[in-house]
Amino acid sequence: MSRLPSIEVTVYPYECDAYGHLNEAAYLTLFERARWEALARGPGADIFARHQVWPAVRKATIEFLAPAFPGDLLAVDLRLEKLGRTSVELRQSAKRIADGVILAEAHIVFVIVDGKGRPVAIPDEVAAVFGGRVSTLPGEMVRYDVGRVTLATDVRGDGPALLLVHGFPLDRSLWAHQVATLAGWRRIAPDLRGLGGTIAPDDDYSIAAYADDLIGLLDRLQVSRAVVAGLSMGGYIAFDMVRRYRERVAGLILCDTRADADGPEGRASRDAMIALVKEQGVGAVAERLLPRVLGRATQVTQPHLVDQVREMMTRAPVGGVAGALRAMRDRADSTPLLPSISVPTLVVVGQEDEVTPPAIARAMTDAIPSAAMTVIPGAGHLSPLEAPTAVSRVLAEFLEHVRDMVQ
Ligand code: MLT
Repeated sequence: MSRLPSIEVTVYPYECDAYGHLNEAAYLTLFERARWEALARGPGADIFARHQVWPAVRKATIEFLAPAFPGDLLAVDLRLEKLGRTSVELRQSAKRIADGVILAEAHIVFVIVDGKGRPVAIPDEVAAVFGGRVSTLPGEMVRYDVGRVTLATDVRGDGPALLLVHGFPLDRSLWAHQVATLAGWRRIAPDLRGLGGTIAPDDDYSIAAYADDLIGLLDRLQVSRAVVAGLSMGGYIAFDMVRRYRERVAGLILCDTRADADGPEGRASRDAMIALVKEQGVGAVAERLLPRVLGRATQVTQPHLVDQVREMMTRAPVGGVAGALRAMRDRADSTPLLPSISVPTLVVVGQEDEVTPPAIARAMTDAIPSAAMTVIPGAGHLSPLEAPTAVSRVLAEFLEHVRDMVQ
């Protein structure tokens, strides 16, 4: 799906041929006008100049479907057909607004070139504007348009799908080790709306909205069922996927998370944090969270992780952080859901997790009939990052065990 708006254009008398109809040259001009107009109203007509590239048309064909007449008002829409490394194929359609008849379609192939006319890799921002990448190389970060958001996503490997959902206020790099190592699975690790590299509006945050985005992503990747691994807030989202899209969840990995909702005190502290991020920025939130999310051992023995997590947190935009806080504050209690979970489930918790301690993980495991639990020694709330090898190993064992059940 393209992020560019539909553009209305009027057919001028001087554009029509002797019979009053738009000819090919006139259509090419009209479609081009609509493209620039859409860019001007969207990311800016200087988007190519900003990246020092130019979209060179290599091929353009027009399919005439119905006659157009002077004074007709047309809606011109653009959609992405194919996005390669250096080339983009677009389809534009011109629909007469009065009767909804599609009058013509254009198929246009562009190569993105540099100042010397040499093809160059399409910049991410340009790719996102046209609707993300539709084909991926192994391990490549790609952006997928899903409704109003564009999800920056790591996709790697083949096999049954494993969706890795990060926590707050983090990004997909939380799962870097698991994405790199869990061979035999198609690992899909997106940045949630408003976090990491995901482009999103400032409003519209809820656990349901995150879950809807992920279902949209699975649709885009043609994945009907996935094992869903969620860390902390990612776990809240995984529960919502079970609640509303049960048939899409083939298995669960609940990592450093909890099922219950915020109580009055928890909600008040979310409000205080929302005020903090708005008044003092994301850095202040990061300093507040850092001592709690990393285990004591990690803070002493892996000081580089303190910096890495601080950087990850401070990269997050204020709108996305405030939105996530509102979403968590207002989330439903998933405790009643637990006895009904029947897919294979693994609960993973860092031994030193102070945010969602092992006792909470134990109670959650006991309430899910199909669940087993593993405690990761020496790790805190961000166990996949703090003890990557140990977590990847327990995930690999669990996934191997359930492979036949989840396909
Ligand atoms: C997270 O790691 O996602 C957060 O700690 C979850 C929360 O604050 O409830």
